[in-house]
Amino acid sequence: MRLGVCYYPEHWQESIWEDDARRMKALGIEQVRIAEFAWSRIEPTPGEYDWGWLDRAVDVLGNAGLQVVMCTPTATPPKWLIDRHPDILPVGADGRPRAFGSRRHYDFSSPSYFEASRKVCTAVAERYGKHPAVAYWQTDNEFGCHNTVVSYSPAAVARFRVWLKERYQSIDALNRAWGTVFWSMEYRGFDEIDAPVATVTEAHPSHRLDYRRFASDEVARYNRMQVEIIRAHSPGRPVAHNFMQLFTEFDHYKVARDLDVATWDSYPLGALEEQWFAPEIKAKFLRTGHPDFATFNHDVYRGMSKLPFWVMEQQPGPVNWAHWNPAPLPGMVRLWSWEAFAHGAGCVSYFRWRQAPFAQEQMHAGLNTPDNRIDIGGSEAAKVAQEIAHVLSADADANADVRSKIALIYDYEAKWLFEIHPQGADFHYPRFAFEYYSALRSLGFDVDVISADAPLDGYTMIVVPPLPVVPADFAQRLAASGAQIVLGPRTGSKTTDLQIPANLPPGVLASLLPIRVWRVESMRPNVTEPVRLDGTGDAHREGHARHWRDLIDAVDERTFGVHARFADGHPAYVQHGRVHYFASLFDDRLTGSLFARIAMEAGLTPTPCGDSVRISQRGKLTYVFNYAHEKHVIEGVDASRFVIGTREVEPQGVAVYRTE
Ligand code: GAL
Repeated sequence: MRLGVCYYPEHWQESIWEDDARRMKALGIEQVRIAEFAWSRIEPTPGEYDWGWLDRAVDVLGNAGLQVVMCTPTATPPKWLIDRHPDILPVGADGRPRAFGSRRHYDFSSPSYFEASRKVCTAVAERYGKHPAVAYWQTDNEFGCHNTVVSYSPAAVARFRVWLKERYQSIDALNRAWGTVFWSMEYRGFDEIDAPVATVTEAHPSHRLDYRRFASDEVARYNRMQVEIIRAHSPGRPVAHNFMQLFTEFDHYKVARDLDVATWDSYPLGALEEQWFAPEIKAKFLRTGHPDFATFNHDVYRGMSKLPFWVMEQQPGPVNWAHWNPAPLPGMVRLWSWEAFAHGAGCVSYFRWRQAPFAQEQMHAGLNTPDNRIDIGGSEAAKVAQEIAHVLSADADANADVRSKIALIYDYEAKWLFEIHPQGADFHYPRFAFEYYSALRSLGFDVDVISADAPLDGYTMIVVPPLPVVPADFAQRLAASGAQIVLGPRTGSKTTDLQIPANLPPGVLASLLPIRVWRVESMRPNVTEPVRLDGTGDAHREGHARHWRDLIDAVDERTFGVHARFADGHPAYVQHGRVHYFASLFDDRLTGSLFARIAMEAGLTPTPCGDSVRISQRGKLTYVFNYAHEKHVIEGVDASRFVIGTREVEPQGVAVYRTE
């Protein structure tokens, strides 16, 4: 458990660097990330590097006892490079190249950019690879930020054709896989295939899905090039990338495979404002963020990180980029920091040390105000630093791995597929995965978020939000896991080529769940269908279905339990042995009560904690977080067990106690 900060020495006169470093250290910061946007200062003219200032900055930080997270500067190619190689600029769906003047203005497929990146990464890695102060690396900055994964440039199309050829080998195989006989879209050679854009009506969905897969692979290829350079020049120093919450245009698992540390950038208030949440939820959690949003991402990146994951950028105060930018309530920066540690983070690094008085982000808070006084976030970070020392001394095991009994499957391709072929305009995959996660968290469970390819050992409950394309061996692995399995609607509904399976959905999962989805329907946001649960003893016997319905048959009532039905009698929730199938997306209350009952079948005991209090377990410590505006009282825990706080948890407060 360590704290870090993002620092831009190039933004400030050199005369204050030493004082900055001294104050960082005094505040309890151990890691300082630098240089991710500094290319124009590192190489002001082509081929002429100016290392002087960066050498001095690294030395100042190192001499103060801080560790440096050195970044490659490729998120911001300088003007001279763009002027020399205009093909670096990505091309939008409108066919126009993006202009210079902000950031991330590069095309992952541009050969000139690949080469220029290779050069600058090599130069930086050679220069600092063995510097004693440099302890970690970060590649680039936030791949996918500002929708920059998919480009429609000639370079991208050329590489797409090569990618297709590798995947399908022959054009006949591609025509068959996509089903191009439809609307006379057949191709005679790979060279005839363009980007799926600017068509009269929707382009072919399989074409679009492959273009997204290709674009995602380009990100992984580009990142891998940087990682290999860094490893060659800086052996033994872990390499990270900072993923951004819900920038899902590329497969984060694939990129993380090449890294040592998966890190992510946590902006709970900006995220609440920009994401799908209903206006009343946005109002309710305006200054705290949604209680499950940051932790969902912690659990996503914990699952793909070889070393403990980090929060590379933690919101320190109001941000500048959402539609509205409220200030966090006092206590929230501390709460968010502890929440990350409770979910297994190795480091929480604040963005940024000091608010910049110029340029695009001048309205974005830092730990210090532009006139260099400590801001609220800075004081809370200092408090967290003291508390870390206290927690570590109270429990030697405080850094233990987080272990969950419940796995939630999360998939990037599902997001692209449902975006391409939604069938109901608001079928938003991350939202539905999040809602399942949130229902589990409000029952007090810790959750591992993993890919469908990850090992399933040790889980007693596995929850699969709508997963259209399931890996070939997933059914066998689920069967072998011995866990209670919950499958959401639309799971197994498509083949890898984006076709309807020959045996109808759930396709390859039919061996596990012998049903047949013979019809589907989507529902407008303001329409719901009543759902009635069978049996007795359930607190909530009625609820409703939203967004979607799978109509299923071939349910043999002797081997199946039909536990809930829609008003028209169609099964809404069926169980076959350990496999549970939800034929719709239910309201939160119904989802929660079904998860509670299935968890009990899995031998787990729910601890319902409502919508504003959250519990997490790490090692022998239990963490309680209060997002509410009222005090929360923890029942049944002896005062002597508290390491931080007391049984009475103030609004925006944190309590940590030894688990019995
Ligand atoms: C992140 C980005 C940072 C900064 C920050 C502002 O997405 O990585 O460079 O722009 O947002 O909140």
